[in-house]
Amino acid sequence: MKKNIVLIGFMGSGKTSVGKELAKSLNLKFVDLDTMIEAEEKRPISQIFSQDGEAYFRRIEKEMVRKVCPDRGLVIACGGGVVLDTENMQNLKQHGTLVYLKASPEVIFKRTEGYKHRPLLIVSDPKKRIEELLTLREPLYAQSDYTIDTTHLNIAQVTEQILKIFKK
Ligand code: S3P
Repeated sequence: MKKNIVLIGFMGSGKTSVGKELAKSLNLKFVDLDTMIEAEEKRPISQIFSQDGEAYFRRIEKEMVRKVCPDRGLVIACGGGVVLDTENMQNLKQHGTLVYLKASPEVIFKRTEGYKHRPLLIVSDPKKRIEELLTLREPLYAQSDYTIDTTHLNIAQVTEQILKIFKK
């Protein structure tokens, strides 16, 4: 049976938009872990962070990974921090092929600027925060099976590149 396709990468790397396109093209089901967490918690992620903190969010995120992973034939868009947890990585790798959507800090800053729904970037210097978090996470993202540099690509072009991998 077909393994899942798991999209990982930093906030603003296009996981959700690309995931939807990809799922449509491959006739697979699309799931977005953040959306599922919000549905289960009945509140937006920004509110989960402000009311219960990041550690609580990470626990819920881990439970969602456990729940979703064993299914088959999914395109899964993960939150940018899913890679921070070793068990998440094991589960995602065991049940899926990991594709890292990479982007430069400058492009991530431009893509995320002005949006208020990402609590980790609501700081006085979001650009610096992006650089710091990327430096920490890059080795984790790099454990993926495939890496697509999305810095100069649009959603359709990224989707096309991933399709080439899976249509081989
Ligand atoms: C996070 C990324 C967000 C969301 C939460 C934490 C992170 O998802 O899960 O705000 O730690 O990078 P997106 O990557 O979809 O923005």
